[in-house]
Amino acid sequence: MNNSKHSVSIFYNAFLYSTDAIILTDTKGTITDINKAFTKLFGWEPEEVIGKTTKILRSPGTSNEFYETMWQSINKHGKWKGEITNKHKNGTLIPVLLSITPIVENKRIIGYMGIDIDMTESKKLQEQMARSERFATIGQMAAKIAHEIRNPLSSISLNAELLGDEIQSLSFDKNEADSLLKSIMNEVDRLAKLTNEYLQFSRMPATVLNKHDLKKVVSNIKLFVEKELKSKKISLQLDLPPEPVILYLDKDKMKQVLLNMIRNSIESLNNNGFINISIKQNQIETHLLVSDNGPGIEKEDQQKIFEPFYTTKKVGTGLGLAICKQMVEDQNGSIHFLNNKPGAQFLIILPNDSN
Ligand SMILES: Nc1ncnc2c1ncn2[C@@H]1O[C@H](COP(=O)(O)OP(=O)(O)OP(=O)(O)O)[C@@H](O)[C@H]1O
Ligand SMILES: [Mg+2]
Repeated sequence: MNNSKHSVSIFYNAFLYSTDAIILTDTKGTITDINKAFTKLFGWEPEEVIGKTTKILRSPGTSNEFYETMWQSINKHGKWKGEITNKHKNGTLIPVLLSITPIVENKRIIGYMGIDIDMTESKKLQEQMARSERFATIGQMAAKIAHEIRNPLSSISLNAELLGDEIQSLSFDKNEADSLLKSIMNEVDRLAKLTNEYLQFSRMPATVLNKHDLKKVVSNIKLFVEKELKSKKISLQLDLPPEPVILYLDKDKMKQVLLNMIRNSIESLNNNGFINISIKQNQIETHLLVSDNGPGIEKEDQQKIFEPFYTTKKVGTGLGLAICKQMVEDQNGSIHFLNNKPGAQFLIILPNDSN
């Protein structure tokens, strides 16, 4: 008897002082115990979490569907192992390798044990690798930029030379000088746009995810484009749900994404066109749909539109949608072109806040 008591305390100590974070739950996912490494990793003390459900650990980017599949696997195979992002008490996201096994007593499952291995360091390494891949892309872009800058520059210098001749000449033609100057200004604008967008892409700011109402972000955008829409007689229609749509977003990046997409629609539309932006939510995710009644996109171009520098426009740089894609992915979302010719339709999928 004494012996078995002793071995229980050995096992309890093994659990309590294990270097991997361990959490014990009952069959319904209510926490029954956690060990010291768990407190160290997630910030929660036992008295704060015992009796609560494991939902307190759920990160906003992990969907309900994911959890359903995980529980289906546990019920079917008796275990689950995989990478998942959990949430620290202070809200920080922590990537972990989680393995869940059932605790069995008298052939009956009485609860579950989850072991979390902190993957922060190895994730950092992965990110570093992804970043160096991006730098390689940026290198290729820089070469293209140099190429792109060359043509307008030679046109600028030619026009400047002609303008110089014009000014020198006795028969000073104001109209001719004016048109040469305009042509110089156009090329300068084009170069300014190109370099600005390039810098925006290569120095993409860090993402700051916070709870925001996507509905508000969308409605506010109207103010920014109103003037341009009015002058081109384009109507922007918003189709938003009555209740707020609170998601983890980077507000500035979301705004930039919407602006780039609206700008594309405007550029594709003639007078009396329309743009529609709608938000729809299901249990798992939020769908933001941006569509217009312009000419749409040819099948063979649809694969390329998200690539940096792909453009069908005379003055486009082809970075608009590449920036959108990067920014949406930074917010754990995805962007898709839906074939909807005539007209273009883009779908942005964002994860719901699962708390
Ligand atoms: N709403 C749209 N309707 C029709 N074509 C579109 C639309 N949005 C994008 N495209 C196509 O996708 C291409 C790439 O778009 P993207 O925004 O990346 O670059 P761009 O608009 O050409 O240049 P930039 O945005 O850098 O000024 C466009 O050149 C155009 O052919
Ligand atoms: Mg564009």
